[in-house]
Amino acid sequence: MKHIRVKDEQEMNTRAAQILIAQVLLKEDAVLGLATGGTPEGVYAKMAEAYKNGSVSFEKVRTVNLDEYVGLNGDHPQSYRYYMEDNLFSKVDIEKENTHLPNGTATDLMKECADYDALVKSLGGVDMQLLGIGNNGHIGFNEPGDAFVMGTNVVTLSQNTIDANARYFDDMSKVPKKALTLGIRGIMSAKKVLLIAGASKRDIIEKAFYGPVTPSVPASILQLHPDAIIISC
Ligand code: F6R
Repeated sequence: MKHIRVKDEQEMNTRAAQILIAQVLLKEDAVLGLATGGTPEGVYAKMAEAYKNGSVSFEKVRTVNLDEYVGLNGDHPQSYRYYMEDNLFSKVDIEKENTHLPNGTATDLMKECADYDALVKSLGGVDMQLLGIGNNGHIGFNEPGDAFVMGTNVVTLSQNTIDANARYFDDMSKVPKKALTLGIRGIMSAKKVLLIAGASKRDIIEKAFYGPVTPSVPASILQLHPDAIIISC
């Protein structure tokens, strides 16, 4: 695990975007594992800027996102599909059929989880997984618990996560309580992992990467990943 401490979010965004772009330049059909939330927004803006100025093309890139809210379809402005279209996909030359997120409105959610793991496998696995981190140490929506959950799964979001997500909804009652998330095996199977965290995550970064490896801090498992980079400020 390599931990790069940077002076501010600007530098974090620049460094993270450079790493993701380098991955695409090295492998034009790379499989990128992507995250949503506030933290990666600036990274996606830098990636879109690099596409616009001709430094990189996403034409052959494939993407698999970490998670999606149960009950929201891709047209819902708070769905993660919508977020990805808005922040990245509509701003670069990626082919829509090469972009994948779990389907939060699938009628059989357990089947959707199994299908998502099969999809990631069929793409040959993730070359580089971008991650944020929750205040409680979650990665994807793998919440703190007694055991690491391995496969893609349906999670009941913790109150901490629901409170953090509430800022995007006009009414607390509309904040989804469940989500589909790639499991710990899916994340740990990525060839490279890049986790980014702003200044508000300083305490959880210390706990996750300088404390014990424990399911009560899910991100701590990344201490065992052979090629993980943490960029935090
Ligand atoms: C989102 C995701 C989550 C977020 C985390 C941090 O796809 O996987 O783990 O990365 O909740 O969110 P922000 O960046 O909004 O603090």
